[in-house]
Amino acid sequence: MTDFGAGSRVFTSDERTISAIAKNVGIPKKRARFLFRLANYLNCKNILELGTSLGIGTSALAVNTKSAVTSIEGCPQTADVARNQLKKFGLSNVKLKVGEFEEILSKFIVFSNKTTNNKQQTQYDLIYFDGHHTKEATLKYFKLLLPAAHNNSVFIFDDIHWSPGMEAAWEEIKTHPEVRVSIDTFFLGLVFFRQEQAKQHFTIRL
Ligand SMILES: C[S@@+](CC[C@H](N)C(=O)[O-])C[C@H]1O[C@@H](n2cnc3c(N)ncnc32)[C@H](O)[C@@H]1O
Repeated sequence: MTDFGAGSRVFTSDERTISAIAKNVGIPKKRARFLFRLANYLNCKNILELGTSLGIGTSALAVNTKSAVTSIEGCPQTADVARNQLKKFGLSNVKLKVGEFEEILSKFIVFSNKTTNNKQQTQYDLIYFDGHHTKEATLKYFKLLLPAAHNNSVFIFDDIHWSPGMEAAWEEIKTHPEVRVSIDTFFLGLVFFRQEQAKQHFTIRL
């Protein structure tokens, strides 16, 4: 496989079994259930995921077939496994894009300046950031995708306490002026943008 992310603390070679990827990289069942429930509760129709891996989170987000899920994966071999799995589950509401995040995003998202509002902007109800767990990359994708958020969107960041860099990125995201409510569930960090809401931070153990 091709590793685009922050590298692995577990794998030392670029040959990995699917079961080892599922165990060490894929999200656990509890987190997948949470993603499913949250997307369902917030009635998310347009969903974007950065980091498909084997498609565990993708499947959880796409089980509600009223939603349209776009998921991006950099490693073509891993994406092939995810594609087969999604097909097996009959989840035809997923568009899987293969390539580096920034490159793919620049191809299919029209970025515009929110204040000038002069371009047709792709907006997402939910964006799940689960790839490239470094401070710089996390903040880069957050800022890149801010114009794709509307007032009721939620951004979900995985592994916010994985490293000092991820902690620092999460601190900066929480205090960003466009962010109103942030929730730290330990593994996941959730941010909401409802401008009518007072700025508040919560810590909840799921
Ligand atoms: C933690 S895994 C995603 C787990 C997945 N969301 C799940 O539900 O099981 C991160 C994935 O993101 C991909 N990735 C990391 N950085 C990337 C980048 N800059 N561009 C494209 N893919 C990237 C990796 O190849 C890896 O498969």
